[in-house]
Amino acid sequence: MTTVEDTTGHPITDEGVRRRDFIHVATGAFVGVGAAAAAWPLVDQMNPSADVLALASIEVDLAPVAVGQAIKLNWRGKPVFVRNLTPTEIAEANKVPVSDLRDPQTLAERTKEGKANWLITLGVCTHLGCVPLGAAEGENRGDYGGYFCPCHGSHYDTAARIRKGPAPKNLEVPEYAFTSDTRVQIG
Ligand code: FES
Repeated sequence: MTTVEDTTGHPITDEGVRRRDFIHVATGAFVGVGAAAAAWPLVDQMNPSADVLALASIEVDLAPVAVGQAIKLNWRGKPVFVRNLTPTEIAEANKVPVSDLRDPQTLAERTKEGKANWLITLGVCTHLGCVPLGAAEGENRGDYGGYFCPCHGSHYDTAARIRKGPAPKNLEVPEYAFTSDTRVQIG
């Protein structure tokens, strides 16, 4: 497998994100291009096509993301929110009776064991697909302190679970895995 690093520094692409939200988060796209590719003589032929990149995983260094802060990434053409929950936000998520939830899931079910502070979700409202607010500092996080979709007023809590408004489901948790204490591979 050949590893293709993309460190051009554009992990956060949504318009309107303020300058201070552009944390320098190292991301890399890991694309399997097959053993035969290594033997190709022309370097440019070794670059994966846009199609292949669209399926790529990204690896993110979480070290710069402070407690209470969130970042937006772009993965497979979709926004991804990565949030470092505060102990209070974790406690708020955990005190909600799961039976009260429209889409019943615990925070533990939406995070990795021992990493409950790292909430990683798609930034795509499950109503009609708008990008909710709340990942950038100062944005409206809604009535439950998580994310707020202004399109039709969906409020998500600190575990990004739908609590109010028309969205039927929680923000989706993508497939991801920690590759070290502070690095995570999404996809
Ligand atoms: S798209 Fe988010 S509330 Fe409708």
